[in-house]
Amino acid sequence: MTKSTGLNKIKTAVFISGKGSNLKNLIKFSKFKKYPFTVNLIFSNTNKAKGLKYSKKYKIEKKIIGYDKTIRTDKRILRILNQKEIKLICLAGFMKILSKNFIKKFKGKIINIHPSLLPKYKGLNTHIRAIRNKEKFAGCTVHYVTSKLDSGKIILQKKVEISKKDDHYSLAKKVLKKEHLIYPAAIKKILN
Ligand code: GAR
Repeated sequence: MTKSTGLNKIKTAVFISGKGSNLKNLIKFSKFKKYPFTVNLIFSNTNKAKGLKYSKKYKIEKKIIGYDKTIRTDKRILRILNQKEIKLICLAGFMKILSKNFIKKFKGKIINIHPSLLPKYKGLNTHIRAIRNKEKFAGCTVHYVTSKLDSGKIILQKKVEISKKDDHYSLAKKVLKKEHLIYPAAIKKILN
């Protein structure tokens, strides 16, 4: 991983598929001096991603490419990342699984935020499953991306208590608040 020297900020690309609240939050933190990164590219696999609106709002370039895991598409995306001198990819609600080839080409420089206390509840519908299993705690994890789904080295994790009143909507809200705390902190941790 290229580290920040304190003078230069590390250029990142944020990959999204949806609302983009984590994206918005990362953009906010990137403007603080203490956070050693800038968001230089917003990438989405779909033009339906609501978070794409932050491209215009914050004047950050966006790219929309349907992700089909082919070598051709991987090359196209990697070319864009290289052109923009992106050194770190932050997956933030990106709902596609990157190909092994892509992960290899950007090795050690892709991180993800996942809405569970990994290694518990990899994959989808984490909150529904946690409530169904009567877990006392839920949470979120920032981790490195490897070719094994939601299994790379953990960078930061935060717990929240599941109350009796919680359904998966209220739990998702509670967890998302914590996501907004740990994602920028995790980036700072690995770049400093
Ligand atoms: C977040 O809760 C994130 O952890 C989750 O999608 C949501 C995106 O919200 N990611 C995954 O489930 C990845 N497997 P956002 O678009 O508002 O940032």
